[in-house]
Amino acid sequence: MSHRLYIETVGCQMNMLDSEMVVADLRKRGYELTSDVKVADTILYNTCSVRAHAEDKVYSALGTLKLMKKRNPDKIIGVMGCMAQKDQQVIFKRAPYVDFIVGPGQLQQVPDLIDQARLGEEQQMAVGLGRREGSNDDIKRSHETFDPLRDPTMRPTPYQAYLRIQIGCDKFCTYCVVPNTRGPEQGRPPQQIVEEAKVLADQGCLEITLLGQTVNSYSYTDGQGKTTRMSDLLKMLHEVNGIKRIKFVTNYPRDMKQELLETIRDLPKISPYLHVPLQHGSNDMLKRMRRGYTVEEYREMMHLIWDTLPNAAVSSDFIVGFCGETDEEFQTCIDSVREFRFKNSFIFKYSEREGTKAESMLIDDVPYQVKQERNNALLAVQNEVSEAENIKFIGHAVDVLVEGPSKKADKLEQNGPLKQMVGRTHCDRIVVFDGNERQAGQILPVSIYETTPFTLFGAVVTQEAGPEVYAL
Ligand code: SAH
Ligand code: SF4
Ligand code: F3S
Repeated sequence: MSHRLYIETVGCQMNMLDSEMVVADLRKRGYELTSDVKVADTILYNTCSVRAHAEDKVYSALGTLKLMKKRNPDKIIGVMGCMAQKDQQVIFKRAPYVDFIVGPGQLQQVPDLIDQARLGEEQQMAVGLGRREGSNDDIKRSHETFDPLRDPTMRPTPYQAYLRIQIGCDKFCTYCVVPNTRGPEQGRPPQQIVEEAKVLADQGCLEITLLGQTVNSYSYTDGQGKTTRMSDLLKMLHEVNGIKRIKFVTNYPRDMKQELLETIRDLPKISPYLHVPLQHGSNDMLKRMRRGYTVEEYREMMHLIWDTLPNAAVSSDFIVGFCGETDEEFQTCIDSVREFRFKNSFIFKYSEREGTKAESMLIDDVPYQVKQERNNALLAVQNEVSEAENIKFIGHAVDVLVEGPSKKADKLEQNGPLKQMVGRTHCDRIVVFDGNERQAGQILPVSIYETTPFTLFGAVVTQEAGPEVYAL
């Protein structure tokens, strides 16, 4: 009988992609996926350390496995990802029944680690960051062989896929644990990325989202000294037949250069959607966060975006309640959301992380209650702005990549031919309309008649309806 694998993934798109690849690797070896942890003989947690909450979730899930493992010692339990890299032995201390721990840079070892655990090996740990000096070749090699393994069934939809172009991060923002869990920034070789995009296109994928912690800082220098930058890479990917849309996250404000924006403007497949987190509206806070730019520089960047790409949708992340944040300083976040009119913002309450500069140098002095209030206040303003921006779409048609039936359609148990379908615009806005399941995977014109802060509602444009005013 084949092995049954249960895998749970928390964290960012990097982790979703890592899980996809681990599953592909194990499927090749005869594993089947199950969504029921009880029937699985292999249980994997792909973990995140960016905030305490993400770690608490995994430790509490591991807690629930204790009894199961006692009753059934043959079940193999593995912890992978960023928390594995960060906590290492601590995981064995807190959950002694875990069989192995594997960091994000060692995921190609997962099948071996499982096999060895099954043979009764002692607890094993494969972690390490592969700093540039020394083991760089190993890292490159492991990623070269590892990344192209794909498993279409693990994707958000069959038409959309993530594609890693960069690993690690060198920015060392004072609050952030990612450079400690993912290691130094390295671009993948462009030919490899293009090859992978072709494989994805052959599998029927229409939209690729390029992933990197500071994706627009992408750079790769080959053996002959030739450097490929983000705009060069986009031009290469634009040539891949079958791919219709190219998105990329997350951008770093300082590297949002004119040349890149012009490339986005000139190439129709590149989405005019830019996730460029501001993180805070106050220069003092940005300095304490060591983000490497001022609000004035960010504003300059926004003007460059608006001038070059008037239809672009820009989104942000914010951290509220970071060390020493006063009411006045917090207010600057509200002002900046109103000024920069973000499509949406992901808002996070500061969570102190072990091993970061903020932990050793600054005091986490904003009470939780205040963080919560600021979070709610900023979200309310962002929702106002999102709604006002979305309303502008009413009466316009947008091209929607149809992803499938909406979650609500499942709840409504719509069994007839008409179903509530969901998709996204080129600029990443969610669109809901009445259609049918055969439309999944098509790009259709949809005329918008209603909006909320999060969603556009519309109807598919029929030929009889005549010409429409188009928006992106
Ligand atoms: N590389 C990306 C984001 C990585 S983490 C970037 O630089 O934008 C995703 C988001 O989590 C960050 O943008 C930040 O807003 C938030 N974040 C990171 N560390 C955090 C912490 N210690 N507490 C709360 N939020 C944090
Ligand atoms: Fe973290 Fe800053 Fe790197 Fe983003 S750029 S991953 S916030 S250190
Ligand atoms: Fe979390 Fe690691 Fe991503 S810490 S946000 S899973 S890079």
